[in-house]
This record gives sequence, C-alpha cells and structure tokens, in this order.
Amino acid sequence: MAENQAATTYGNGKGAGATVGIALLGMGTVGAEVFRLIHENAADFAQRIGGPVEVRGVAVSDTSKPRPGVPAELLTTDAHALVQREDVDVVVEVIGGIDYPRELVLAALNAGKSVVTANKALVAAHADELAAAADAAGVDLFFEAAVAAAIPVVGMLRRSLAGDKIKRISGIVNGTTNFILDAMESTGASYEDALAEATRLGYAEADPTADVEGHDAASKAAILASLGFYTRVTFDDVHCEGISSITAADIAAANQAGYSIKLLAICERLEGEDGREYVNARVHPTLVPKEHPLASVNQSYNAIFVEAEAAGSLMFYGNGAGGNPTASAVLGDVVGAARNKVHGGRAPEDNTYAALPLADFGQVSTRYHIDMDVADRTGVLAAISNVFADAGVSLRTVRQEDRGDVARLIVVTHSAREKDLEDIVARLETLADVHAVNSVIRLDNA
Ligand code: NDP
Ligand code: HSE
Repeated sequence: MAENQAATTYGNGKGAGATVGIALLGMGTVGAEVFRLIHENAADFAQRIGGPVEVRGVAVSDTSKPRPGVPAELLTTDAHALVQREDVDVVVEVIGGIDYPRELVLAALNAGKSVVTANKALVAAHADELAAAADAAGVDLFFEAAVAAAIPVVGMLRRSLAGDKIKRISGIVNGTTNFILDAMESTGASYEDALAEATRLGYAEADPTADVEGHDAASKAAILASLGFYTRVTFDDVHCEGISSITAADIAAANQAGYSIKLLAICERLEGEDGREYVNARVHPTLVPKEHPLASVNQSYNAIFVEAEAAGSLMFYGNGAGGNPTASAVLGDVVGAARNKVHGGRAPEDNTYAALPLADFGQVSTRYHIDMDVADRTGVLAAISNVFADAGVSLRTVRQEDRGDVARLIVVTHSAREKDLEDIVARLETLADVHAVNSVIRLDNA
C-alpha cells in the first residue's frame, strides 16, 4: 500500500486498497440483483470505496436452485457460519422475516461486521437492540432500502434534513398495494388478479398479507417517524389498516366523487390536550383528490411528502419495490459501509434523544367520507345530522342517491377526532333507518 494512501485512513480502517469481504444473505428478488450489480460495477465500486469488494459467500435456503452466473462454491445454507467468517467485513441481509434475520444480524454486528439490510419488519421491530449492538461493536447498521426501495428517504432524513425540524411525513410507501389499487381503479382488475400480478413482478413480500393488511407500510412508517422525530417508534406503535376491505364499489364511489383511494402512511407531530407535543404514526386507506400529486402515483411507485419547518414541503417520488430499485439502495449502503471499513470511522447511529410521547390514535383528527344505506323517508336526514351534531362534528357535504326504497347517503365531515368518529358510527348503526354503514374512509388533511 502506498504511503500517501495509508495517510487517509483513520484508526479502525483496513487501509486504502484493502479488499472488503461481503456476505450476502438471501438471493431472491433483491439478493440476485445485488449480486449481479456488485459484479457488473466492480471496477467503479472499487474506485468509490478505495478498495475492491468481493462476495465471500451467499446464504440461501436451497443450494440446488438454478442461479445463473453464481459460482456454486459461494452458496451455503449455513448463514451463521458465513456471517462470522474472518474475511467478511460487511453483511447484507435480504432474506426477510424477523426472528431468523435478527439472530443473523446480531451475530454479524457482535462479530464486528457492518450490516446492510432491506428488512423493514426487522428494523421496525428491533431497532433499539440492533442499534445498541452496532454501537457496541463500532460498526455501521444501514437500512436505506427498507423504506420506499430506491427513494433515498432514510439518508435524506438522517443527513440532509438533520438541521431542520420535521413536522409531518406522509405518502405512499407500499408498492404492492398501490399497484393493486391503481389496477382496480384504472383497468377494473379484480383485487385477486392485481395481487397475483404484483407478486409475479416481485413487489409483494414473501407473505403478501404483510402488504395488503398494511403491516409493511406500518413498519416503514415506524422507521420514518423514528428518524424524523428523533423518537423511537416501533411497528406496534403504528395504527394500521390495510386495503383488503376496499371493494370495487368503494373505488367507483371515490372515483365518482373526484377521489382516488391510496394507502397512506402518515407520521406527524400533534399537540395534546395538555399542550405537550406528541407524535403519531398511522397507515390506512385514504381518499386523495384527483388533482393532488399523490393521486397520480401509479403502479408500484411510491411518493413521500416531508414538511419541515425551514425547508417547507418536499416531495420524493420513485420506484418503491422490485429487485433492481431495491438493489440500488442496498448497494448505496454497501458502498458507504465498505468505505468506512477501508478508511475507518462509522456513520452516526440513529438518535432518539427527543423521546416524544406517542399520541393515542383516538386523538388524531381527520376528515371522513361515510357511505350509508338509509331509509328514504322524511326525518332520516335530521336524525343522522343530530348524531354528528351531538358529537360536535360538523358536516361538510351531504349527498343522496335514490336506490328504490333505500337511499344511499354520502356524508363528508369537517375535521373530527377518531374517538368521536368511532362513537358516531356506533350510534348511526343503532338507528333503525340506517340500514348499513357501508364504508368509512378518511380524507387526508394535508
Ligand atoms: P425473496 O423471498 O425473493 O428472497 C428471499 C431469499 O432469502 C431467497 O434467496 C431465499 O433462499 C433466502 N432464504 C430464505 N430463508 C432462508 C434461510 N433460512 N437461510 C438462508 N437463506 C434463506 O425476498 P425479497 O428478495 O423480495 O426480499 C428480501 C428482503 O428485502 C425482505 O426483507 C423484503 O422486505 C425486503 N425488500 C424487498 C423489496 C422487494 O421489492 N422485493 C423491496 C424492499 C425491501 P432461496 O433462494 O433458496 O429460496
Ligand atoms: N412489498 C414491498 C412493497 C416491497 O410492495 O412496497 C418494498 O418494500
């Protein structure tokens, strides 16, 4: 190694020109692209890092599957042994799940390896434990790909906006559900067919329940809220509703009223009744006016709005799922972690100094679109209006459509608290003239 190169290295660096060993855990939709791009871009990566990277081994569950271009001797089912190898510096976890990758990631960190993961479920469930292990070992723990795949929102919150105060983060962070809702709205595809296609295209999780029930988006919301508000928010803290109950009729009704239905993740600061500042993170289907930029985010694309005190409103848009876009984010982290291995130093750990209290979901205020079947007779509207008035919730619009003996009533409220809305729906359901509350869908306040 040349003397002038060695001079650029901090205490714990391997030194410029040193090879960085990579262990790749998982070679599915994401892992296969990570492997391909590491090899295709090897010369550039070596320049960017200050030394070459070399994949030392690839952990999979079945070594007999055909994997074109992957030397058989790299494949192993013993991920535990792979992450502990002396010649491994950076471990890339793209297996998925929680318990098994948690064991592997902790073993890797404890052995002094930096870790790059795309696994939002793992990070949203165990961030504190993983961060503590990374801290103790003085290594990096990076997870850019865990939120919105190719969109560099984690780095933007961790670094670019570190000098600002984030007020709200909201947007579409799940590609599979956006693909399904878009297909149902634009082509009239069935929910089942759209989900099958999203799975075929590699957007869905191994168990797509995580996508359609909103769990994947909730994990991402937990990560975004933690980074944006310097407060630990975990998956269990996020109120979560998915899209499995959204019907073709809901989509048609929304369309007719000038809205698209999108699954939004919303993280915001709220002022509590005690005047203190709280944070809330939630995921639910939301009506978005057709003219709003989020309404034109189609297919598996994601878009995230960040409202910051000094920066104002920022919007980030891009590929939110799929092997290639996710590999881009994973490899950005690999280059960062490898650079630190070569030159020494580490990125600052996630900081949760603000430790803001979490607001109960009942305290959240939003507007509601309520679709009911009611008896078509005098006095019904007055009885329904009274239920809202008694709860102190004012109505913005009321629309009635005749359907023979029954009328369809669509009410849009002004901003109201979740707790009050819950009570209103319970009371509406007790009225003899309300045959059914067909759906209650929120409208975003932003
Ligand atoms: P896949 O299901 O396509 O791939 C999983 C890989 O893990 C496979 O190669 C599988 O092996 C391997 N694997 C499974 N179990 C084990 C085990 N016990 N030991 C060793 N290897 C194992 O998942 P994806 O690539 O889609 O996703 C990986 C991660 O990336 C997940 O955390 C996901 O949430 C995240 N992610 C995915 C995105 C996407 O668009 N797909 C986007 C952003 C993040 P084998 O090949 O033998 O079956
Ligand atoms: N299943 C996830 C999605 C992958 O559909 O958004 C990207 O995180």
